[in-house]
Formats: sequence, C-alpha cells, structure tokens
Amino acid sequence: MTNSETKATLSFSDGSPALEMPIYKGSIGPDVIDIRKLYGSTGMFTYDPGFMSTAACNSSITYIDGDKGELLYRGYPIEQLAVNGGDFLETCYLLLNGELPNADQKKEFVATVTNHTMVHEQMQFFFRGFRRDAHPMSVLVGTVGALASFYHDSLDINDPHHREVSAIRLIAKMPTLVAMAYKYSIGQPFVYPRNDLSYSANFMHMMFSTPCEPYKTNEVLVRALDRILILHADHEQNASTSTVRLAGSSGANPFACIAAGIACLWGPAHGGANEAALSMLEEIGSVDNIPEFIAQVKDKNSGVKLMGFGHRVYKNYDPRAKLMRETCYEVLQELGLQDDPLFKLAMALEKIALEDEYFVSRKLYPNVDFYSGIVQRALGIPTALFTGIFALARTVGWIAQWKEMISDPEQKIGRPRQLFVGSAKRDVPAIDKR
Ligand code: ACO
Repeated sequence: MTNSETKATLSFSDGSPALEMPIYKGSIGPDVIDIRKLYGSTGMFTYDPGFMSTAACNSSITYIDGDKGELLYRGYPIEQLAVNGGDFLETCYLLLNGELPNADQKKEFVATVTNHTMVHEQMQFFFRGFRRDAHPMSVLVGTVGALASFYHDSLDINDPHHREVSAIRLIAKMPTLVAMAYKYSIGQPFVYPRNDLSYSANFMHMMFSTPCEPYKTNEVLVRALDRILILHADHEQNASTSTVRLAGSSGANPFACIAAGIACLWGPAHGGANEAALSMLEEIGSVDNIPEFIAQVKDKNSGVKLMGFGHRVYKNYDPRAKLMRETCYEVLQELGLQDDPLFKLAMALEKIALEDEYFVSRKLYPNVDFYSGIVQRALGIPTALFTGIFALARTVGWIAQWKEMISDPEQKIGRPRQLFVGSAKRDVPAIDKR
C-alpha cells in the first residue's frame, strides 16, 4: 500500500471546514480513500449498507476485477491454476504461503495435511446428537465449532505455530467432517480417511465407500471435484470471509471463526445458491415450464430469483463459471449423462437467460454455482450437501484470510457504527398511562 500524490477533499454545503483525506494505492485495482479521521474531524460516519464502496482491510491474497471477469489467487489467474496449477493442495499452499510449492515443499505439505485427516474419535458422539435429517450445514456449523473443544494445543492465536497448526487441522479435517455428515444422514458407518489417496480421492472414498465395498476412484470425477475445490478456494472479502474476519477480530479462536463463516455461507444469496439452483431446476421440472418460470422471475412481487445467476462483483462474466461449465460437460460425458433431463433443462434455461433482455440489461450471467450443482449431482453428491462442499473448499481461503488479519499490525476489532432512525430519548410513562 503506497500513498498517492492525490488527496481527496470533502467539502460541505453548509460552510463547515473541508476535510482532506489521504488516498492509498494498491498493486492493482481501485485506490482507497482513508476515512479513518472522518468521525473525529466531522462527527459524521459514512453510510454504506452492503459495503458497496468499502474496503474493510488490505490483503495480498485474492484479487477480483469484476468488470474484466478476472480472478487471481496470489497473482495467478484462476484459469491457469485450474488447468496447470496442480491439485487442490497446491492451491491451498499458494493461498496460505503466497507462492506455489516446489516438489519438496509440496511433499512436506501433503504429508502434514494427511497427518491430520482423522478427527478425535469422540467427535462421532457429536454427530449422533443430531437428527438424521438435520441439514449438513447445521451439522457442520456445530461440529467445526466443536473442534475448539478438542484441540486446545492450537488455540493461542498470538502464537504463529498455533495458527499454522489450526490452519492445517481445519484443511485436513473438513473433508472428514463433511463426509461424516453425509454418512450420518444416510445411516451408514463413518469411513476413516485413507492417507495413500489424494485429498479429493480420499474425500470421495470417505463419502462413497462402505465396509462391504470400496469406492473405485475415477480420475475424471476426482479431477472434477478437485476443480470445484480450486474454483471455490477463495474469493476476496465476500460475505462469509468478512464474517470470519469480523469474528476473528475479537480474538476468537480459528475453529469458532470458521464455524461463523460456514453459518454465513449457508445463506441462499451466497453458498446456498448451488443447492438453491438445483432445487429450482427440479421445481421447474421441464423445458416447457421455463417461460412461466422466467415470467415469475421478472415479476418483482413474486420474490422468485433465477438462482445461480448474478453476482455482486462479476458484472460481465464469472471466470469460474466458464471453467465449471467445461467440467460439467466432461463429467456428464464420462458418465454418459449427456441426455440427463435436468442437464438439458439447465442448458435451455441458460440459453434463454443469456438472450433475454431482462437478464442482459442487468448483466446477470450464470455464476459458478449454476454449473457446480449439476456437476456435484453427477458425482453422486446429494443436493443438501452442495454447500457443505463449498465450505470444505472455502476453508483454506477463510483460514488464509484469518491468518493474514491476525498478523496485520493495523488489525482492530471490527465495530461498524450506524445511522440511528429510532425514537429519540424519552421517559418511560407511568403504568396507568400506557
Ligand atoms: N434473478 C433475477 N433478478 C436478479 C437476480 C437473479 N438471480 N440477481 C439480481 N437480479 C436483479 C435485481 O432484482 C435487480 O433488479 P432491478 O435493478 O430491476 O431492481 C438487479 O438484478 C440488480 O441486482 P442486485 O440485487 O442489486 O445485485 P446484487 O449485487 O446486490 O446481488 C446476488 C447479487 C445476491 C448474487 C444476486 O444476483 C442473487 O441473489 N443471485 C441469485 C443467488 C446466487 O446465485 N448467488 C450466488 C452468488 S455466487 C457465490 O456465492 C459463489
């Protein structure tokens, strides 16, 4: 972050003194105006619901240019990482450490992560406390938060070694917990991790093996899952990441912070969109019903949205959607599902929406979750678990951002203010006057 020669001056029409504020430049992207002295100098706050114009921190992890449709992890374009960047654990290493690993670093990182894949045996009793039909996201909020009660030896957030161990534990144990949530929901025994498999292949093993029959991994499907994880690994200061940072700003432990991020991700406007997109397709049912559905979407009073379309930041296209679309075709081809009615319906909806004036004029393009739901369904992952897979992928982004925040000397507890519009001070009336 460097100081710009340019300064911003805020002037007032009532003649109050103007305020000069510094402007900072990042390495790329919009400059920021430093408003930290605004309240002290003027007694006013800024008003920015939804943080449309607010940079809450400085970060060197992920950069998005929404107009260009560009996503960079530590400077590397997502298209290159997804195709030539190695597997998901290499992306994890990159997000955590700032550089891609060399062969030795990769070997050591993989060994460290795989050493932490099991969860404490007692964790299974937490699972047994949930109803079998509990939503996996509620199970994950609970069980990830509960990790803090097992791993006391990595809870000192002021100790860099503790922070590192917590990060590794979270990345390593999330697949185990997500698979346990699935197994519990279908009444099958929990399957222990296998450290001879890759991160994604091991996850599929824990999901789909049973004590009677091992799961035979298919390279195309493992690669598809790996790509889902890479594409969802981090996304700048999105709602769940900001939630993790805000929770962490009070000094809360990393397991509690990640549980908070999972809670935020659950919402249908965020990570819940992949599940909502697939439910929407199932509800539409057939290509013939698309026009009626689109009419409902355009009717503001209906409250119906085209799930899997639109993005707060990407206003031309979502670069992850393009990669996920490719994977979608590859997986359906591999499984011989090209004629799957739901896939055909999705493609028909995509075509209509991309040509319809309503969506074109509002720059509403398919986002990554429109396609990731279809891919996950083809992999055999149940709809209710889609957001859990997103949480599994995003854990590395959350923990990398949390670590960055903790070591930032400018870090303060996050405490927004408000524009108060309620009643001014008044006296409580006597009981007989109410
Ligand atoms: N379907 C129909 N209309 C939409 C949609 C949609 N999916 N998204 C936005 N619009 C409309 C809005 O009604 C608004 O119309 P108006 O200008 O006539 O009032 C206009 O497009 C602008 O939309 P905003 O709500 O201002 O856009 P915002 O940036 O606040 O919202 C969001 C972005 C939340 C992602 C929204 O597009 C949405 O709800 N999409 C569906 C859910 C979804 O797919 N979320 C996944 C996001 S990606 C991710 O988390 C990985």
